[in-house]
Amino acid sequence: MISMEEAKIIEGFVYEAGQILLSAKPGEAEVYKKDGPANFATFFDVKIQEFLIGKLSERFEGAGFFGEEDTQGNAQKVSPGYTFFIDPIDGTTNFMFDYHNSCVSLGLSEGNGMIGGWVYDPYKDRMFSALRGHGAFLNGIRLHIENRPMSEGIVAFGCARYNEGDRIFSVLKELFMNSLSLRNGGSAAIDLCRIAAGSNIAYVEMKIQPYDYAAASVIIEESGGFIGQADGSPITIDGPCSIVAGTKKAASQIRGILSGAQ
Ligand code: IPD
Repeated sequence: MISMEEAKIIEGFVYEAGQILLSAKPGEAEVYKKDGPANFATFFDVKIQEFLIGKLSERFEGAGFFGEEDTQGNAQKVSPGYTFFIDPIDGTTNFMFDYHNSCVSLGLSEGNGMIGGWVYDPYKDRMFSALRGHGAFLNGIRLHIENRPMSEGIVAFGCARYNEGDRIFSVLKELFMNSLSLRNGGSAAIDLCRIAAGSNIAYVEMKIQPYDYAAASVIIEESGGFIGQADGSPITIDGPCSIVAGTKKAASQIRGILSGAQ
């Protein structure tokens, strides 16, 4: 386990990475096409990931990296010791179109278990953080989720075209009719952290990559929420999986809706 002091140092790196995102102008960002439909990276995704790998490998010698972009030092796998999961810009499409709804997401695992998470939205200056066993925080204020049912909140969902995102559409009407409303924010990490902050009651996505949810998974669990796959099994950190997260009540209701739809 890392110390509180080390956690603060990591948070500082994530904050600095967020300042790179905040000052980046989408119009000046070269865009690279990745595998699958509507899948992009920009010059700034690469730059921020390089910045974080540089800082973290200096401070945590021997740590592994499971990052979204193809940069030096990124093994894209879980190492036996510490592994940092980096999404340098979660909400890349939002960034490309100047939506101001993107974040830097950094998760930390030790062996096969997630132990830390930092998600920073520089547009709103909101830093979510959590260390396993020490609670979840938003800008230093402790977060606690109230276990409310789905009928009392907003359900967010994700649907990336390159990740078979259309699979969610068959259940959206039922999610809508059983909640207050639906949202698709375009940044899974932000939408997941909104569960910890009490703004979303739940989040669903049928296929998503570990660097998108690794950090937020610790933040949700440390705030009293639940995150797992559509069938209730634990999330995977070595490859993509489905995600149903929320208050314990809402997550269980959503799993019921998904199983009824199959
Ligand atoms: C994507 C966003 C999107 C989610 C996708 C992710 P990226 O991450 O979080 O909301 O639906 O599954 O891949 O590509 O912007 O880092």
